[in-house]
Amino acid sequence: PAIYAPERVNSAGMDLTDPLVIADLDTRITKALALPADGSAIVGGRDLGGDFKPVTNPADRSMTVGRVAEADAAAVDAALDAGVAAQPAWDAAGGAARAAVLEAAAVRFEADQARAFGLLAREAGKTMGDALAEIREAVDFLRYYAARARADFSRALVLPGPVGESNEIRLAGRGVFACISPWNFPLAIFTGQIAAALAAGNAVVAKPAEQTPLIAAWAVRHMLAAGVPAGVLALLPGDGARIGGRLVADARVAGVAFTGSTETARAINRGLAGRDGPIVPLIAETGGLNAMIVDSSALPEQVVADVLISAFGSAGQRCSALRLLCVQEDVAERIETMLAGAMAVLDVGDPMRLATDVGPVIDAEALAMLTDHVAALEAAGQTRIAAAPVAEATAAAGHFMAPVAYRIDSPDRLTREVFGPVLHVWRYKARDLDAVVRRINGFGYGLTMGVHSRIDQTIRRVAAVAKVGNLYVNRSMIGAVVGTQPFGGEGLSGTGPKAGGPRYLYRFATERVLSVNT
Ligand code: NAD
Ligand code: ALA
Repeated sequence: PAIYAPERVNSAGMDLTDPLVIADLDTRITKALALPADGSAIVGGRDLGGDFKPVTNPADRSMTVGRVAEADAAAVDAALDAGVAAQPAWDAAGGAARAAVLEAAAVRFEADQARAFGLLAREAGKTMGDALAEIREAVDFLRYYAARARADFSRALVLPGPVGESNEIRLAGRGVFACISPWNFPLAIFTGQIAAALAAGNAVVAKPAEQTPLIAAWAVRHMLAAGVPAGVLALLPGDGARIGGRLVADARVAGVAFTGSTETARAINRGLAGRDGPIVPLIAETGGLNAMIVDSSALPEQVVADVLISAFGSAGQRCSALRLLCVQEDVAERIETMLAGAMAVLDVGDPMRLATDVGPVIDAEALAMLTDHVAALEAAGQTRIAAAPVAEATAAAGHFMAPVAYRIDSPDRLTREVFGPVLHVWRYKARDLDAVVRRINGFGYGLTMGVHSRIDQTIRRVAAVAKVGNLYVNRSMIGAVVGTQPFGGEGLSGTGPKAGGPRYLYRFATERVLSVNT
C-alpha cells in the first residue's frame, strides 16, 4: 500500500534515562514551579481575572498549585463576538500563513516545556514519562495540522468542466469553533482540537476541563504569543454545563469539537439539535470499554508487560486503556500469576518522582467511583487476582487508587467505562473466539482493542470482525502517535474523524465551489 508521509517529523522529546538530562530538567521544573500560576478567561488576548479559587494537587490535597477564576456569561459573549469579528481575516490569510503560526507555537511549547512538565504533574497528576509524552503529542499536533493546512488549505483544486467554464473547489473555515476538552490529556487533546480548528481557518473558543485550567492557560498564552490573532483564540475556564452548555447553545458557534465522556457528548448533541441558528457539525471523541484478547500462542512476558502499561499506565485514565483482558483458559493461570507478580512491584506515588509508575487519579469523585466499583465486584463474589501496594502516607495525602485486577465470571459485569486502574480478567475457551469478539462488539463502544497471538489466522479473524477504531496486535494498546496511528473510535466511542490523521481537518471546514463561465 502507498505510505502516507507528511512533510514534518514528530517531536524528539528528551531522554529521561540520561542523568544529565534529568538533573537539568529538575532544576528547570523547580524554577518554573516557583512562578505564580493563574488561569482566568482570556479574551481578546487579555486575562480577564475575576474571583480566584485555589487549584490543588491530586497527589497532595494540601498543596495549592495555582489559582483559577471561572469565566462568566459576559466573557462567553465577548469571546464569541471577538471570534466572529476576527475569523474572516484569519481564514483569508490562507493555510500557509496559519501553518507558520502553529509551527511557531510548537517551538514555544518546546522551549518552555519545563513549566508544562511541572503543571502537568502538579495539576493533572501526570508522571514524568506521561508528561513528556503529552508535551510531545501537543507539539506533534501543532506541526501535523500545520502541514495539513499547507497541503489542503493553501490552494483550490481545479475541477474538469465544459469548454469556456472554469471550476474549482476549496476548503474554508466555518466560523467560530467551540473546543471542549477533558482533564486526562489537558495539554495534548486541548492543543490538538484548537490547532485543528485554527489550521482549518476557524476562530476558537476553548473550554478546558474544570480540573485543569492552568496548563490550558499556559498553552493559550503561548499560541497567542506565537502569532494567533487576539480575537481568534479565547479561553473560557469554568463549569461544564454552565460555560460549555452556554457556549454550544449559542447560534454564533459554527462547530463543536468535543472530547470527553459519552454522556456529555449526548448532552451536547441534544443541545445542538434543539438550538436556533445554523446546523453545525459535532466532532465527538468519547469513552471506551476496551478489551485485549490473548490466546495460548502469545508470549506471556510480552503480554504481561503490555497489560501493565495498557491497564495501569496513566493510572488507567486513558480512553484507550485496557479494561477487559480476555485470556484463553489454557494459559490463564500462568498469565494471572505473572501479572500478580508484576503488579506487586508497581510503584504508586508522587508523579514528580522518576521511579513512579502510577500517579494519583484526578479527584475525590473519581476515587469514590472506583472504590464503589471495586466494592461491587467484591460483593458479587468476583476473585481478586492482585492489588498493587500503596503506602499509607501516600494514600492519605492524595487521591490514590491501588491498581487492581479481578477475575470476573462474565463480561456482563462491565456495563460502562470504568475510568481508572481497575482491570477485569475473563477466561474464554479457544473454540469461542468469534463469540468473544461479538461480545466485545456488543458493548457498543468501539475505541481500542488488543490482540496477543502468533497465529496469523487468528489475527486476521479478529481484525475482520472487530468494530474498533484502533486495533493493536502484539503490543500495548495505548499511546497512539500523531500521523502514525490516527486515533478515534466509532459507536459509543465517537463520531470520528481520526485525530492526528490526514482527514481530520476536513470536518472542521466547509467546501466551496466556484464555477465561472469565461
Ligand atoms: P466529561 O465529559 O466530564 O468532560 C469533558 C468536558 O466537557 C469538560 O471540559 C467539561 O467541563 C465539559 N462539559 C461537561 N458537561 C458539559 C455540557 N453539558 N456541555 C458542554 N460541555 C460540558 O469528561 P472528563 O471526565 O473530563 O474526561 C474523561 C472522559 O473523556 C472519559 O470518558 C474518556 O474516555 C474520555 N476521553 C476520550 C478520548 C478520545 O479520544 N476518545 C480521549 C480522552 C478522554
Ligand atoms: N490518544 C491516546 C492514546 O492512544 C488516548 O492512548
